[in-house]
Amino acid sequence: MPRTARAAVHAGTGDRLEIRPVTVADPGPGEVLVRLGASGVCGSDRHVLDGEWHLPSPTVMGHEGAGVVEAVGPGVQDVAVGDHVVLSWYYPCRRCRACAQGKAWACTGTRSGECLLPDGSTRLTGEDGGTVYPYLALGTMAEYAVVAESAAVRIPAEVPFDVASLIGCSITTGVGAVVNNARVPAGASAVVLGCGGVGLAVVMGLALVGADPVVAVDTSEEKLAAARSFGATSTVRAGAEDVPARVRELTDGGADFAFEVIGRTETIEQVPGLLATAGTGVLVGLPAEGQKVAIDVLELAESGKTLVGSNYGGAVPSIDFPRLARLYLDGRLPLDGLVSHRVRLDEVNEAFDAMRAGERTRSVVVFD
Ligand code: APR
Ligand code: ZN
Repeated sequence: MPRTARAAVHAGTGDRLEIRPVTVADPGPGEVLVRLGASGVCGSDRHVLDGEWHLPSPTVMGHEGAGVVEAVGPGVQDVAVGDHVVLSWYYPCRRCRACAQGKAWACTGTRSGECLLPDGSTRLTGEDGGTVYPYLALGTMAEYAVVAESAAVRIPAEVPFDVASLIGCSITTGVGAVVNNARVPAGASAVVLGCGGVGLAVVMGLALVGADPVVAVDTSEEKLAAARSFGATSTVRAGAEDVPARVRELTDGGADFAFEVIGRTETIEQVPGLLATAGTGVLVGLPAEGQKVAIDVLELAESGKTLVGSNYGGAVPSIDFPRLARLYLDGRLPLDGLVSHRVRLDEVNEAFDAMRAGERTRSVVVFD
């Protein structure tokens, strides 16, 4: 039986979301119906609202979510009704070369970037009967979502939904950049540019693996205070201090690892200059489509530095989501500290405005 869900819908233009009803059809073969418990408000949704990335529309926004399996389609084996699941914003196809190599994060068979389920359609329709697209084949800013089976990963029910939702994007992206992409060893020095939801997860990952010192950089004192509480050993206020000079001073000439977690060309260009000889820069922040940066190539080559692109923290959702949930339950990652504001679905535009103003660690939409 199809059901109606309240959803935050982007018409395709303008930066506002409208709360509208959408019809959610039953899950088809290999699909799962999820009743959302929470959906994080992430920087990647904002890229879309601000016209920096383009999608099919109208779109139910949200790609950082968790909830309960309400129904499963024919042939579903990995999850059952009543399971608590974190949603992955790409569903690995499990057939392409990257999936076969265990690099699910680089899956080329997924259609999630087109906001389509594996069969090339969606289960959402609007009031006019037209197709509605779920952002990244999830659309978590809605009471219900139909997702591909491989996008729904079971986690222990003791993890609260607000924390679980963030495992679906910012936490996996940030902690994964440290442990999967950069493989930071204990005692290495690190700097983190940008302490939003993703950057703070990088700081937590660095504290988890024992990096030292951990220097956090942001324009906002509130974000820097949060970074200190999650394990940053020193902080630098961008805009008020000379960031490269201060970072080099705090890291004895340059850091072993530098993470850019803002997605601005100016700060990406700063990365090589923050590194020690043979250091590694990890590019986590995503700029607008088509943006290019200028880098001193001779300096980069001669000093043997590495720049690494990091997407979704190099994660394999079925491995990384339960692992992060367990680290949280065992008290090794203080993930609940990331949730600064719990909001209702109809307060979502204010949450994006706060993000644009550089305020709030992370807003999370919670559903009844
Ligand atoms: N220098 C230092 N910090 C800055 C600067 C700057 N020039 N400009 C912005 N910031 C800080 C903001 O104050 C904010 O704390 O960067 C942070 C960005 O965080 P959010 O807007 O909360 O975004 P987040 O969800 O963390 O995502 C960051 O990672 O995955 C990508 O698409 C995502 O590009 C986005 C980035
Ligand atoms: Zn995200």
